[in-house]
Amino acid sequence: MARLKEFKHPFLAAASSANNGRPPVWIMRQAGRYLKEYQNLRSRHSFMELCENPDLATQVSLLPHRILNIDAVIVFYDILIPLERMGFPLEFTETGPVFRNPVRTERDLEALRPLDPRNHTPAVLETIGRLKKILGGAKPVLGFSGAPFTLAAYLVEGELGRGGEGIRRTLYRTPALVHEILEHLSGAVTTYLNSQAEAGADAVQLFDTWAGRLSPAAYREFALPYQRKIFEGLRPDLPRILYVNGGDHVLEDMASSGATVLSVDWRCDLSRARSRIGSRLALQGNLDPAALFGTPEEVRARVLAMLESRRGDPAYIVNLGHGILPETPVESAKAMVNTVHQFEP
Ligand code: CP3
Repeated sequence: MARLKEFKHPFLAAASSANNGRPPVWIMRQAGRYLKEYQNLRSRHSFMELCENPDLATQVSLLPHRILNIDAVIVFYDILIPLERMGFPLEFTETGPVFRNPVRTERDLEALRPLDPRNHTPAVLETIGRLKKILGGAKPVLGFSGAPFTLAAYLVEGELGRGGEGIRRTLYRTPALVHEILEHLSGAVTTYLNSQAEAGADAVQLFDTWAGRLSPAAYREFALPYQRKIFEGLRPDLPRILYVNGGDHVLEDMASSGATVLSVDWRCDLSRARSRIGSRLALQGNLDPAALFGTPEEVRARVLAMLESRRGDPAYIVNLGHGILPETPVESAKAMVNTVHQFEP
């Protein structure tokens, strides 16, 4: 019974490779700076305040539901906040997030503590619960976490403005230290995602944004085993999405992670991706976020081309290939969502 009810929503149907209607659509970073309603709230509150106050975080999470009528609501928070609670003070600056005490040696790792989501990140759990109640099952609520490799990249580098060479050097210089961090983080992420599912998340997305920088061999050593460990530790029926930026060269490995949905960026050809991974998994993506800077007519044409390329695919979820960019015209985001909603399958 519960299963039939779940499948009433196209997102959950597609995530289970069983959608026979139009594909669902949501947008990574959908509650962000391209919305003037978000900017208004941000002019009065810091980003951290928006994340940590469930009244505000609920309001922000619902903006894309209210403004765009998006098909899934992702909870408003950030992948890096749990690391702060695990012992590494975090600052969001003009240029992005910064850890002032990065891990460089075994000794720095002494600061790393286990994550206790109920005590360390109660706001994200409370916000998920509220969203679930407000939406009343009309739309799925998505939880998320950073994956161990991506979180480790921030911990080791402190900030990632320059493209992730620091973490790659560290992998080869001190692989044992990196594995120790990844091991610790995969336990924490498993606990964290399970607590989000208990709080009401209908599906979760694991962001391994930086793992696409790895060679295939390094991906298999430093990213894949930890993604697997996490997915094995989740409720078996919980839909789980894996996102890797620039991961076309490791798509088959992504497919062996235990994810039920692969979220791919714009450099990946969707039809080829489908034939490479077979029909067992769902695909999510992958319009170039920059394409939203075209006119609404052009956006509509590009989204239609993407929809046509996956016509009849029961396991396709429309999204961008990465987060929506700050200056994106909201009309473009609306054109993207409306084009999907009007598509006759
Ligand atoms: O998707 C959503 O709307 C849910 C909320 C969400 C945010 N960040 C909000 C946010 C999610 C799922 C994330 C994920 C995230 N955060 C990732 C993985 C996905 C990706 O984009 O690669 C990463 C690497 C981060 C770390 C992070 N947080 C960065 C690099 C930045 C600064 C860059 C930027 O876009 O500002 C943040 C800040 C951040 N996280 C903002 C938002 C809306 C902007 C904060 C502001 O208002 O100034």
